Formats: sequence, C-alpha cells, structure tokens
Amino acid sequence: MQFIHNSWYVAGWSKEFTRELSKATILGENIVFYRTEAGTVTALEDRCPHKLLPLSEGRLIGDDLQCGYHGVTFGCDGKCVRVPGQSVLPKSAWVRHFPTFERHNIVWIWMGDEGKADESLVFDLPELSSPDYAPHQGNPLPYASNYLNVADNLCDPAHVSFVHPTTLGNPEMEDLPIDSEMTGDGTVITSRWTRDTPPVGVFQGLSGFGVNFRGNVDRWQYYIMNVPCVAVIDFGSAEVSQEITYDRRAEGVHIYAIHFLTPVDEFRTIDRWMHVRNFALQDKAVGGAMNDLFNVAFAEDKVILEAIQIEERRPRSAEQEQRRPLRIAIDKGSNLYRRRIDELIKQEQVND
Ligand code: FES
Ligand SMILES: [Fe+2]
Repeated sequence: MQFIHNSWYVAGWSKEFTRELSKATILGENIVFYRTEAGTVTALEDRCPHKLLPLSEGRLIGDDLQCGYHGVTFGCDGKCVRVPGQSVLPKSAWVRHFPTFERHNIVWIWMGDEGKADESLVFDLPELSSPDYAPHQGNPLPYASNYLNVADNLCDPAHVSFVHPTTLGNPEMEDLPIDSEMTGDGTVITSRWTRDTPPVGVFQGLSGFGVNFRGNVDRWQYYIMNVPCVAVIDFGSAEVSQEITYDRRAEGVHIYAIHFLTPVDEFRTIDRWMHVRNFALQDKAVGGAMNDLFNVAFAEDKVILEAIQIEERRPRSAEQEQRRPLRIAIDKGSNLYRRRIDELIKQEQVND
C-alpha cells in the first residue's frame, strides 16, 4: 500500500505527549516522541543508526535523546551531539526529524519532505475556536483495517441505517438519495437530508441535556473528507417547524464528529475522534455521555471494517478474481475519495 507523505497527520492528543518517551508507527515508520523542556513535541526516527536499538529504549538528557545501548546522543533536530569514547561525530550519526505542530490540544506530524511542511495547511475548523461550540475528545480507536477502508466508511452516510440502527440511523433513511461532490481543492463532500422523521438514537440519548424534540425532525448529514485523512461529519437535527436550512444549522442541534485517521501501516489505522457541539456548553457530563453514544456506534464500524480487512487479505478463487466488483449509487463519495488519493500519490511520485 502506498501512502501520501506530504500531509499533516495527527500524531496524538496533546495529553499523550509528556517528558516520557513514547512511540508510534505512522505510515509504516517507527517514531519516538517527547516534549522538550519548553514543551514542544519532538518527533524523531525511532532507530539508532549505530546498532539499531530503538531510541525509545533510551532516555532524555535535557532536550537530547540518549541511546540506551552505547549512549550516542541526538538533539531534538535529529543531529548527533555526542558519541561516547570519541570526540569526532561521524557524518552518518543522525536520525530523521519530523516537523510537528500543536493546536486545539491536537499534535500533528508532517510525514513528507521537511522543506514542504507548511503550518498553514494544518486542518482547522472555525467552531473549534468559537465560544458557541464545545469540543470533547474521545479515546484513540485502533482499527485492524487499512485507512482506505476506514475512510470509505467516513464518506458514506448510507451505512448508518444498517450498521448504527440504535444511534446514528433509522429505517426511514434507507432509500433516500445521497449527493456527492468534489470541491475545487479536492475535498469530497457526501450529504443527505432526511425530512420529517423521528430523531435518531443519538438525539434521543441526549434528552437529559436539553435536546428535547417534540415530534419528527429534519436531519442533515454532511460527510466532509479532507483528503487524505481528516473526516468531518457535520450533522444535526431541528424541529420540522423550524424549516432548517444549511446556512441556519446553528439554530438546530448541531454536532461535528471529527475523525483524524492516522495510518499505522498497510493493515492498521488509528482513528482519533472528537465531537464539537452547540448545546449544553457548560454541562461537564454531556461530553462523556456523547462519548458513550459514539463508542457504541464506532464499535459497530470496527466490527465491519476489520471483517472487511480479513476478507481482503484472503486468497480469491479464480472465479472471484474474474467477477467485477459490485458498485452501487451510494459509492460515489468513496469513489471520488479513492480517485483523489490515487492522484495525490501519483503527484508525489512524479515530484520525487
Ligand atoms: S545502538 Fe545506539 S549507541 Fe549503540
Ligand atoms: Fe459508521
């Protein structure tokens, strides 16, 4: 599997990084992380160039990272600062350094050419800085499934009636049409409006937090995929009598579920998800209650996406090999996504 390297990926929530060494595999590369004394997150290749001990087995000396085997020490830019037993620092004594960026309690890492790391490209959502919305982070969700399968699911409002019948979907939505488009900057937007139907389970589950619909509601779902790996699910509901429109979403119960996908390797992905809401802003209990509802839904996605990954890896019979894969109308969003991924990978290959 090929990855897009020239992109910012989420390395973790801010609280995951401390003065302790931590490690992660991202796009198949092993990386060691730590905070400097000034608090900046440092990301280095987790592999000593001497005898290949992972540097995450070493220790911090101030802001420098000392290998746990023979003490070769690297600065937070990856350059060697000390080789015990000699004064000369060999040219090959360095490890790769990855740019990082931190905002909204999220730490990002740039996996491509260091010179191309442009902080203005880091994903942002105006509501994350708005006093009218409250953000809340969930726990990192590991999927034994590649990021393309996970991303398919996040370009796909149609699955919720079948996979999430108690939380995000209901039968009334099953046969409604879905719109899909790619914007000029390559963002894939898949959307659906469901008018005059009962509220789905998530909204019923929030009735203790001031979300009290009296009857049927109008409901929107916009699945906005910022290629490659940030999916914003903009959804909400409003009383039918409100005659809600796209521009007036803030007048309804409005939620963003944001999924930051970090490909681990060819077969695994971490989904760090969070939600942003426009109701019960001061209520400390609502974030956890929403996490519980989303955890039910995302566990349902996990079962499906991991089963698909297992099936993808199984050998196919000659007959299965010949049969064309089934493509249906609701696939348009994920087809646009995969096409855009292919384009970006080709662009990287041409420019390398
Ligand atoms: S393996 Fe790192 S110093 Fe020897
Ligand atoms: Fe889902």
